[in-house]
Amino acid sequence: MKFFVDTADTKEIKALAASGLLDGVTTNPSLMAKSGRKFQDVLAEICATVPGPVSAEVAATEFDGMMAEARVLRAIAKNITVKVPLTPDGLRACRHLTGDGAMVNVTLCFSAAQAILAAKAGATFVSPFIGRLDDVGENGMALIADIVTIFRNYAAFKTEVLVASVRNPTHVVEAAKLGAHVCTVPPAIMRQLFNHPLTEKGLAAFLADWAKTGQQIA
Ligand code: E4P
Repeated sequence: MKFFVDTADTKEIKALAASGLLDGVTTNPSLMAKSGRKFQDVLAEICATVPGPVSAEVAATEFDGMMAEARVLRAIAKNITVKVPLTPDGLRACRHLTGDGAMVNVTLCFSAAQAILAAKAGATFVSPFIGRLDDVGENGMALIADIVTIFRNYAAFKTEVLVASVRNPTHVVEAAKLGAHVCTVPPAIMRQLFNHPLTEKGLAAFLADWAKTGQQIA
């Protein structure tokens, strides 16, 4: 499973990239607004930090506007992935952009039917938002299971399932068990993945015992 981090905070991205575990980054207009910086500067910095796909979302809602914005975004760096909403215009833009060699992430997917359309439009990634579905009393992980099953039925579907709106480490584990290709994870949850109380306890005991030997590994 690939790990993307879901943030426009370049300090967080640099810290996580140093782990060597980061395969890409996703941003959205809300995350960009939170950064308080010019989008070009933020995206250029992210793309220079992480060589994998970096999703940058269009703000236009009709086809021509999306295509114009996509040109601006793609000019920032080669690893920009244009993020378009799962709308008729978004899918039309997706088809044109992938035909032109761009990577495209179709976002705001909330149903299996929408995911099928994204795959048919040639999306590089489709992003089902599982946390937001859970928030309204639906089962986000069941949607991931459906989409993974459907995509496996059709070799012609090359679209990767990018699990988005992740709220906890269990979401990551369950998505991996289902065989989802990518999880985009907020930095705080990414850090939680490292933790287990028995790891901390075990390490403290090992270090205490080692100190008693008076030796150094040198
Ligand atoms: C994904 O690309 C989105 O940016 C993100 O996962 C949305 O998550 P949220 O529901 O926590 O805002």
